[in-house]
Amino acid sequence: MTAPPREQTRSVGEAQCRVENPGGARRVVVTQDLPGRRWLEELAAADCRVEVCVEYRPLDAATIRELIGGRCDGVIGQLTEPWGEGLLRALRDAGGAAYSNFAVGYDNVDVPAATTLGIAVGNTPGVLTETTAEMAVALTFAAARRVVEGHRYVAEGRFAGWLPTLLLGRRLHGGTLGIVGAGRIGSAYARMLVEGHKMDLVYFGPHVNEELEGFVADYAAFLAARAERPVSCRRAESLEDLLAASDVVSIHAALNDQTRHLIDAARLAQMKGDAILINASRGPLVDEAALVEHCRAHPEFRAGLDVFEREPATAPGLLELPNVVVVPHLGSATGWTREGMATVAAGNVAAVLRGWPVWPSPDITPFLAPGAPAAAPSIVNAHELGLAMFAGIATTSL
Ligand code: GLV
Repeated sequence: MTAPPREQTRSVGEAQCRVENPGGARRVVVTQDLPGRRWLEELAAADCRVEVCVEYRPLDAATIRELIGGRCDGVIGQLTEPWGEGLLRALRDAGGAAYSNFAVGYDNVDVPAATTLGIAVGNTPGVLTETTAEMAVALTFAAARRVVEGHRYVAEGRFAGWLPTLLLGRRLHGGTLGIVGAGRIGSAYARMLVEGHKMDLVYFGPHVNEELEGFVADYAAFLAARAERPVSCRRAESLEDLLAASDVVSIHAALNDQTRHLIDAARLAQMKGDAILINASRGPLVDEAALVEHCRAHPEFRAGLDVFEREPATAPGLLELPNVVVVPHLGSATGWTREGMATVAAGNVAAVLRGWPVWPSPDITPFLAPGAPAAAPSIVNAHELGLAMFAGIATTSL
């Protein structure tokens, strides 16, 4: 790779930045380089000079403060960064009005503090729904069918030929799937396994999900018409009810004070002894030390984890367990999705700085196509800040 021309790089303390659109009147800081170019075009169209930190490591608060400096209109930041009151105030004091997480989850951002400081907080829903659900499916199959154990077995030269009892796993087809949280990602994951593998669905969440229930009912009718066993769907009365009934439990809830350690030792004990636990949402939803103990004591139990309680660390003993499969927080990690997330995050910051209204629908796909609406795709505190909602037809040239 050739180095960018000298005038387009800048050192901020220890951190190196690439400067895009250096003549822009507004200054936006991006704490990690992002894929694609469209996000840069959006910020350039909003007259932003964009300083992209090119350190390939999560940044600490002190470095982010240095990047914000004395003047900064907006930031695109990462879920690994502690956007508490301190950093948000530093952004406000530098004249900032917009922050977007490059993530759908925003448990790393103190949104009430941002609202008090008058900072709009964006996130990137929609573009990662199926992608993250696919990773949860991948982990489900890897755990159920012992894919990583099998890989190691072959790679270590232990495969001496087919055997009737070698590495027996769990059949998913026709089993019971429990999802904790039936929002966008949970529902997409459920649909993949209900439709593809004819699993019965139990879901746990604060609201009835009519769309999901309707989908399963329609699919059940389709199967019945073909003289196949129909699938079923029900909302669990309690988390205990779901845990006891499910062969696979997948967590798709947001992290907050109520959901931290939602799955602890007592809840693990309520699951079937040979159940599979999947977590592709946020690590602290599971008491990881308790999970290690449980997997040690129940070799037939399996877990597939995309996220960890104290990322990037893992609980002592976790990685030695043959019945645990892990990947490094890759839920949204496809090129298409990450470019889409960059577009949405940049759209959030650029639109707020331009004084544009906020897109009122959860469907953000219009922002990925040419002629995007002249609006901020997703601002989580729009209502609290009293921001205007997009009602018109204005589009951008991008
Ligand atoms: C990833 O974990 C996200 O919240 O987008």
